[in-house]
Amino acid sequence: MVLLSLKTGNDALMPRCVPLVNREVFHSSSRVCSMSNSDRVVLALGGAGTVGSGVVKALLDKGFKVAVISRDSSRLDRLRSFVSPNTKDNLTTIVGNVGSEDGAQQVKQELLRTVGKVTDVVSSLGFSWWQGGPPHTQTLKDLHWVIDCLLFSTFVSWKAFFPLVSDDPNCTYTFITGGAGEKLLMPGTGFLTVGAASSLAFCQVLREEYPDVPCKLNQVRIDTGVATAERLAPGFLNHLELGEAVAALVERRNTSHSVFNVNCPADLKGIFVNEHL
Ligand SMILES: NC(=O)c1ccc[n+]([C@@H]2O[C@H](COP(=O)([O-])OP(=O)(O)OC[C@H]3O[C@@H](n4cnc5c(N)ncnc54)[C@H](OP(=O)(O)O)[C@@H]3O)[C@@H](O)[C@H]2O)c1
Repeated sequence: MVLLSLKTGNDALMPRCVPLVNREVFHSSSRVCSMSNSDRVVLALGGAGTVGSGVVKALLDKGFKVAVISRDSSRLDRLRSFVSPNTKDNLTTIVGNVGSEDGAQQVKQELLRTVGKVTDVVSSLGFSWWQGGPPHTQTLKDLHWVIDCLLFSTFVSWKAFFPLVSDDPNCTYTFITGGAGEKLLMPGTGFLTVGAASSLAFCQVLREEYPDVPCKLNQVRIDTGVATAERLAPGFLNHLELGEAVAALVERRNTSHSVFNVNCPADLKGIFVNEHL
């Protein structure tokens, strides 16, 4: 029974009589049409970052059109030179800030003027690492910064962009989160745990508040380091291999309200290729 109505508009996400159900996985592939990758436009939030750049390259290599917003034009230039040369024409880059409500609305208008529509969103906002010290050495400003990056930007951008995809079973919204939210990774990383935990909680809230939303809403929870080829350490995920797995998940759009746990490189094949795809 669908009791949730989502419309495109300012009050689009107000739930109406949403039942409190505890549903881990919700499959609704029946109405998915055969839209080709070249007809799909993926907004990669955080797409200029370590995780995001691997996802962006893989999506472009699969024939998707991809749009990336960054506050830093030089990061966007680096991204343009990183992706496969023959896919550059399918990459749109926009300078903007999705961390503030005004900034997100402004960049959303520019995005829609430029690319016309968004069919998929991959959100990998945040930062690669934080080790500022134990809590008694930190300030409220430090904690604000961490929460700003990991939670506020994730929430604000979701609120701005989810209405573009929420009502369509052909669309997807995928969050990339970190396993740091469940444990202290090492001494001095406490605020990383606080921030990562807030992102995990936000994704859980979305799954439970919107159990029947048509858009495929998924989360990839990574409990190990992710790096570019030059910075790989033992046990780390290569951002390109992670990107390929996330791109495959977006392409298939055959599952929703799922959490994909990735603890080591082997999990990418096991989870994405064998079990779910
Ligand atoms: N790297 C890892 O080892 C790892 C491991 C597990 C999970 N993760 C997950 O992946 C996420 C991204 O990590 P990453 O290594 O790709 O970090 P990154 O290289 O620092 O990239 C993060 C991206 O987020 C954007 N961003 C950060 N704060 C923002 C804000 N307030 N407003 C708008 N945009 C903001 C940045 O945009 P600008 O271009 O504008 O700066 C940047 O493109 C993490 O938060 C975590 O959830 C990462």
